[in-house]
Amino acid sequence: MLANKRILLIIGGGIAAFKSLDLIRRLREQGANVVPVLTKAAEEFVTPLSASALAAEKVYRDLFDLTDEAEMGHIELSRAADLVVVAPATADLMGKMAGGLANDLASTLLMATDKPVMIVPAMNVKMWEHPATQRNLATLQTDGVRVVGPDEGPMACGEFGPGRMAEVPEIVDAVSAFLSDGPLKGRHILVTSGPTHEPIDPVRYIANRSSGAQGTALAEALRDLGANVTFVTGPAQVAPPEGVTVRKVETAGEMLAAVEAALPSDAAVFAAAVADWRVENASDQKMKKTEGAGLPALEFSENPDILKTVSQMTTGRPGLVVGFAAETNDVEANATAKRARKGCDWIVANDVSPETGIMGGSENKVSIVTADGVEDWPRLSKQETARRLAARIADALK
Ligand code: CTP
Repeated sequence: MLANKRILLIIGGGIAAFKSLDLIRRLREQGANVVPVLTKAAEEFVTPLSASALAAEKVYRDLFDLTDEAEMGHIELSRAADLVVVAPATADLMGKMAGGLANDLASTLLMATDKPVMIVPAMNVKMWEHPATQRNLATLQTDGVRVVGPDEGPMACGEFGPGRMAEVPEIVDAVSAFLSDGPLKGRHILVTSGPTHEPIDPVRYIANRSSGAQGTALAEALRDLGANVTFVTGPAQVAPPEGVTVRKVETAGEMLAAVEAALPSDAAVFAAAVADWRVENASDQKMKKTEGAGLPALEFSENPDILKTVSQMTTGRPGLVVGFAAETNDVEANATAKRARKGCDWIVANDVSPETGIMGGSENKVSIVTADGVEDWPRLSKQETARRLAARIADALK
């Protein structure tokens, strides 16, 4: 399954490092070529000789090993792999990665690589739950790093909770899924999701009921087909997916800027519920209710239409542009007109009348409007809707 795949395995210094020796064996059983890198601390737990013997490869240990630099520089080493796996990823290694430090071979390789990175955290439960680790985790996820585990259970230190390194078969599965050649492999797809918040003053804003569930499910489904996904999200209720590049924004203006910065892409899907208007006279101080002063008069101006802007780009337009239409009446007619008005290729239309329970709910019932007409899909979970839509996109990009 992993034939001809090259994995750079960075082994951090933790008690779970012994599992990484088994990981080398299991990855090789699947046909992968594993090149181990040991941190100084890792050498306290496993020997370079065991890693090298199991991998049948040279083990890399020191940034300043001139022989290695002559054979293969650290830049080349970091890029010759299909995937960089960090297992165990200690709190220290995660901190270095999140902070951009490069003061030993492992951290330098992680900074220099242009390949996807997967981390398998392992540490004491209190260290895992520490706000600094959770901050670093969020930063790494935003940078597109894939995270496997940690599991929950009794730990070598005697405590119980999340922090145990994921078991080897789970890591092998994650690596195989990641490196499998899905139909969207090598494709860059942009997805917008969630609501936008348009400020009235520093504490108040205008928003809508979008949870971000459909956009998130779609980004996950596209990722699972092998796409490289950039996920531009407003302040959504559901957490952004792992293994995609996340760009968090608040307003429609910021969303447009993030979308433009993420282009070019092979396809772009606009699932965000963008506010149509912003408050032109938003106050930079909290508005007070002063007796006798009357009600505030909010002046609105129109937000940029991101879908329309991208659909009508004359150069660099994504090959496939998909918009969503949230309608409460005459869904098909409105969606067909919207497709023409915006200039996008497809509209995914849904009925968001309160009685459908779709907005904020777990199911969706959509119609796909294309140049060829309208296709009505059955009521499905948002995940299944996403999987079908992702497959449809993969088909269109063939
Ligand atoms: N959209 C966008 N930028 C905006 C508004 C909408 O990118 N400023 C995108 C949404 O992400 C969605 C599609 O446009 O893909 C449909 O949005 P909608 O708000 O329904 O379209 P409108 O033109 O505002 O139509 P109406 O107000 O008549 O529903």
